[in-house]
Amino acid sequence: MKKYRLAIFASGNGSNAENIARHFSNHHSIEVALLLSNNSAAQALAKANALGIETIAFGKADFKEGGSVEQALVERGITHLILAGFLWLVPVFLIKRFPKRIINIHPALLPKFGGKGMYGRHVHEAVKMAGEQESGITIHIVNERFDEGQPLLQAKCELLPGDGVEEIASKVQELEYKHYPAAIERWIVGA
Ligand code: GAR
Repeated sequence: MKKYRLAIFASGNGSNAENIARHFSNHHSIEVALLLSNNSAAQALAKANALGIETIAFGKADFKEGGSVEQALVERGITHLILAGFLWLVPVFLIKRFPKRIINIHPALLPKFGGKGMYGRHVHEAVKMAGEQESGITIHIVNERFDEGQPLLQAKCELLPGDGVEEIASKVQELEYKHYPAAIERWIVGA
């Protein structure tokens, strides 16, 4: 059993989850031990299964203190939680149980374009509507409020006036794939 055991939480497509899992597949001290989703139809579950990672789909009641999610994390000796396109707020008891050990990625330059309801495409639409000349990613520690924890890394991309939501999404996604696994690794091993 490796020293650091990650549980990834993902609600949708799971391309970041897959990228992270591939990054750590032969790592000496970090492994992705579990992928959890609040959406039983999430592609993230299929992607993790294909990589041989155990998966769990869960509902609201399972996510409460003493529920099956907490139990699964404890039983498997999970050390860090990684949010990768996970849409639910993390309950306070988990934040206390994993202090500074829950990491999230947001597809914009926080504190702009964050908060409840700001996820995925909605973020890029808001960036476009605001006429921003740049966007990017923010990787941060999770606290009890959406998108407000301590930032670990920001990376920027330039936006052109003709860029639509798709172009913005793809520029941001490129930054996510490049930086998220390395930022997780630095945070965990350097901590
Ligand atoms: C990613 O762009 C991630 O930054 C974003 O959801 C997408 C998930 O894509 N997260 C948020 O918006 C959180 N507020 P993926 O499922 O393909 O990894």
